[in-house]
Amino acid sequence: MKNLMDIITGAALMPVVVIDDHTKSVELARALCAGGIPVAEITFRTDCARQAVQEIAEKVPEVTVGAGTVHTVDQARSAVDAGAKFIVTPGFVPDVVEWCLENDIPVIPGCSNATDIEAALRFGLDTVKFFPAEVSGGIKALKSFAGPYQGLRFIPTGGIDENNVEEYLSLSNVAACGGSWMVPKNLIEAGDFSRIVSLCREAVRRAFGFEL
Ligand code: 3PG
Repeated sequence: MKNLMDIITGAALMPVVVIDDHTKSVELARALCAGGIPVAEITFRTDCARQAVQEIAEKVPEVTVGAGTVHTVDQARSAVDAGAKFIVTPGFVPDVVEWCLENDIPVIPGCSNATDIEAALRFGLDTVKFFPAEVSGGIKALKSFAGPYQGLRFIPTGGIDENNVEEYLSLSNVAACGGSWMVPKNLIEAGDFSRIVSLCREAVRRAFGFEL
């Protein structure tokens, strides 16, 4: 049986969602599925994020939904109670990582440098978010990490889009790429889910090299 981290990284793409209106969450999740990306990181930077997670978890179970922009254990607990299957943090937050591991919740902490990575290794993690990817050295930094951190896999996020996703995914230590480019906030607000389906399909085409 696939574990949850395999599902997340198997999708190769992690849509980073900023949603202001929970009533759009189910349609958004269906659009992700239709676009071939059955995974979503709902960022806890809007008031309705928890409710969006809950609605997706309940009504679109084929989408593996997680919570992003998690800064505290309270937020992590609240997200998991609402149905989040994994937790993403922008920086390395030891107490959130510890809580997730104690509770068997996959956690993808943000690491932007070797010091953060060392902290992640101390917790036995094998997959981290590389954030903010482009301004932290991007492809060059990931190639440099491959030497000392063999076996560690990264989910670069921040500044990735359809123009550079293929290059990131070609690196052997990249498990998946995260980003908001396939789920732009303005399209979610406008309810333009058919355009989101197209953006997701294009991202999948670039990630896997085939059309859906
Ligand atoms: C995140 O929270 O991971 C970032 O805001 C996503 O970055 P992007 O908008 O550059 O894709």
